[in-house]
Amino acid sequence: MKYGFFDPKNREYVIDKPDTPAPWANYLGSPAYGAIISNNAGGYSFVKSGAAGRLIRYRFNEQDRPGRYIYLRDDEDGDYWSASWQPVGKPLEQYKSICRHGTGYTQLEADYKDIHSQALYYVPQDADYEVWKVKVTNSGSKARKISCFGFVEFTCESFYEQDQVNLQYTQFITRTYFKEKFILQTINENCLNAVNESRVDTRFFALAGAKVASYCGDKAKFLGKYRDYGNPVSVENGKLDGTLNYNLNPCGALHTTFDLAPGGSVEFTFLLGQKREAQAKELVSRYEDASLPEKEIDKLKTYWHSRLENLKVNTPDDNFNNMINTWNAYQCFITFIWSRAASLTYCGQRNGYGYRDTVQDIQGIIHLDPDMALEKIKFMISAQVNHGGALPLVKYNHNPGHEDKPEDESYRKSTGHPSYRADDALWLFPTVWKYIAETGNTALLDEVIPYADKGKDTLFNHLKKAIDFSLNNLGIHGLPAGLHADWNDCLRLGAKGVSVFVALQLYYAFEIMIRFAKYKKDSATEKEMTKQKNRFGKIIEERCWKDDRFVRGITEHDVTVGKKGDPEANIWLNPQSWAVISGYADEARGKAVLDLVHNELNTKYGARIMSPSYRKHAFDGALALLFNPSTKENGGIFLQTQGWIILAEALLGRGARAVEYYLESCPAAQNEIADTRLMEPYAYSQFTESVDSPFEGRSHVHWLTGTASTVMVGSVEGILGLRPDIEGLRLAPAIPSSWKSFTMEKSFRGKKLNIKVNNPDGRESGCKKLTVNGTAVEPQPSPKGEGSPLDGDYIPASILKAENEVVLDM
Ligand code: GLC
Repeated sequence: MKYGFFDPKNREYVIDKPDTPAPWANYLGSPAYGAIISNNAGGYSFVKSGAAGRLIRYRFNEQDRPGRYIYLRDDEDGDYWSASWQPVGKPLEQYKSICRHGTGYTQLEADYKDIHSQALYYVPQDADYEVWKVKVTNSGSKARKISCFGFVEFTCESFYEQDQVNLQYTQFITRTYFKEKFILQTINENCLNAVNESRVDTRFFALAGAKVASYCGDKAKFLGKYRDYGNPVSVENGKLDGTLNYNLNPCGALHTTFDLAPGGSVEFTFLLGQKREAQAKELVSRYEDASLPEKEIDKLKTYWHSRLENLKVNTPDDNFNNMINTWNAYQCFITFIWSRAASLTYCGQRNGYGYRDTVQDIQGIIHLDPDMALEKIKFMISAQVNHGGALPLVKYNHNPGHEDKPEDESYRKSTGHPSYRADDALWLFPTVWKYIAETGNTALLDEVIPYADKGKDTLFNHLKKAIDFSLNNLGIHGLPAGLHADWNDCLRLGAKGVSVFVALQLYYAFEIMIRFAKYKKDSATEKEMTKQKNRFGKIIEERCWKDDRFVRGITEHDVTVGKKGDPEANIWLNPQSWAVISGYADEARGKAVLDLVHNELNTKYGARIMSPSYRKHAFDGALALLFNPSTKENGGIFLQTQGWIILAEALLGRGARAVEYYLESCPAAQNEIADTRLMEPYAYSQFTESVDSPFEGRSHVHWLTGTASTVMVGSVEGILGLRPDIEGLRLAPAIPSSWKSFTMEKSFRGKKLNIKVNNPDGRESGCKKLTVNGTAVEPQPSPKGEGSPLDGDYIPASILKAENEVVLDM
């Protein structure tokens, strides 16, 4: 069953069956003001943080309620419905609905008994409030009298958890007022400053462009006794009774009425935000002008689309195109902006960015908005501690040079992070490399950036310190210690236990440092890094390779995790894919381990993180045991890892495999099996249940997942083969033989590349000829270590003009 389709021209996903198997969401706004909205207008809004700045209520794990509701009522016969199918939920034979999720906006259209409504929800660019633009049209042949009610359920206070559980307190600190065009909600209004960690806030819900006919600020009165959002008594009655809340639960509800001649329309706007009375008043007066929203939407589209335009692909696979051109790209920006803070599944209680999460998220947008990436790279570098380790959690109000750190009780208390993780700082290497390679901005290496706690250094030296941190935290056999955990939250190998994934990341870090040192002509560093790389290579060979596979780790009691013959968890995905990505495995071994992965771990929805799932034979630190088999880290298809296996296959030139993995786990490719997948067909989720589950293929934890960026990198660098380095751009697609040609438009260092790839012989990788602006480019071998021997050809940045025609014959 499918519930919608992609509209690539408008960069929208269109839901034409509103009874989706789960709320299908979109993200609106910016870090200043975030709003999540489902295809049925469920969702919530927050200022800066979903956990600490919550404006309106949403009940997780329930029926996608409440949300931003707009009710319509026929004032002649009393029948009422909502502008989104839910919450009133009229029979779908009579009620037609179209939801268009777009870049930064969502439009809900409905047709019911000859009334057409459009509700356009968005947060204007650079604004910290939201707009619901409403248009109601009489599409019938007789005159109609209609009422419209806008409704939001305010939280009693900004701390989401307090609002949910500490009701003996929170229900008695708030009240609402009516101010002619809006409901004003105050919190702790008698206090000048925050008391008891609560905050003095005011919020408003307004109507602009129409007259308020009646109002209500009290949720219980709005809904009525023993009623729900689907049948509020005040909507049924056609009038709000003017009750304002004083204690208990506040809401904003505003009512307007209008007559519609056949063909006639009205337009007006609801506004919601956290503003003082005077600011709210000023906003309402601006939105009396009904033409403002259209201009603002144009601005939003220009903002988003101009970024997405920086890479445009046209391959024979529409699912791939829709994801890479719009939806995966947009999701990369969303994870970049909101990290793991807020979704319809959960709202992160932590008050900052997870180090490794954000450093990886950056990778997903470098090719689309390098400047935005740069700012965050510097920010994350400034959260590295002077000894090279990284703060596992970087607070939103991070203050470089003055932060406490995991060694300090205060840090552990305020963040809940007990110690360093082994991988955090190592993610800087691929991220900084990708940024410098994309932009050629090598000056960044010499830029001085503070450490989190004290002192400052050039970025190049920050990277060296990250390596020092790993070298100073070695476990048994001289391999990097797993510390609190590595990338896998569920692997506690013990203080001296060692992680093979981290060893491979470190190996890769040496390689990146060698490239930078070569560029800087810093032969001492180059020599030292080469020495270390070789030395570690030997240890990896001795300790991490057993029989036919790379193992996953060695616990502090010297128990090897992930060996052939173990009854459970005997093969792990990440060490195999990272053996290739890091450049450690040569071509033959790389192919052999990836073949093993394909045999042992691949399923119809992607490759499992490991297999078999833990049940009876887990080691002490194997927290994956907590989960049901084939779920999350316990042998589920942890989707973030799919990007790495796609990349690894592509680096080996095996395009068919790379795209096979890509499509197995691609949301768009599951559009027709939405009832199996549950989650949005246009956004990645965290994981998919695998073969042991009675619900194989069901996916969970939508939107805020590292999957967005790893799959983007796997697709762009891997499948499309766009692999920049300091001097230029390598073009080495790895595609299925059925892709006989495809095109790409790419912005690169301020220039435009129109790339045509021809594959008449049905190859999976390789290059026969490359021409740039009509001139054949001499084939250049891949510089050792910068990819596989199958790399395609290379375009030196120096030969590029403002606009370039590039043709690659495979
Ligand atoms: C979650 C965490 C991330 C971790 C991953 C694997 O996505 O946010 O930090 O790396 O799980 O355990």
